[in-house]
Amino acid sequence: MHKKIQITVNGEPHTLEVDVRESLMEVLRNRIHMTSVKQGCGVGECGACAVIVDDLTVDSCIYLAVWADGKAIRTVEGLAEGRKLSKMQQAFVDEGAVQCGFCIPGFLMTATELSEQDKEMSRDEIKRALSGHLCRCTGYQKILEATEKGLKG
Ligand code: FES
Ligand code: FES
Repeated sequence: MHKKIQITVNGEPHTLEVDVRESLMEVLRNRIHMTSVKQGCGVGECGACAVIVDDLTVDSCIYLAVWADGKAIRTVEGLAEGRKLSKMQQAFVDEGAVQCGFCIPGFLMTATELSEQDKEMSRDEIKRALSGHLCRCTGYQKILEATEKGLKG
């Protein structure tokens, strides 16, 4: 069964006919070409596919595209302003947090959501918030430091 949905992706409106079984990850990657949205585990365990829907980060591999109808979605492609990286992206670069990069878009979306909550967070709270993300290059320390730096602005 198919359904028409209207979504906004990084500020651009899209009207699409989707299979009701299609995940938001499939729609973003295959139809809107947001290739920062990575397909890792496909079952909500690794965080590689994380995007922000309205104000909350979700694992888009286990989030149906039809649930996103009427919502605003943000991916890494929408974080920079022109050629200027967001504060969080710049912190990841400055701290050398990126190795192969596969997990980084997901981490960045959660870290961006945290930065928008505008509250002080302890290192343990940040760790907990990032705990839904796996990094195969095991760069957790640098990623944590980069997120802390990005949160301090
Ligand atoms: S690909 Fe979605 S959580 Fe792993
Ligand atoms: S930087 Fe390679 S998987 Fe995290």
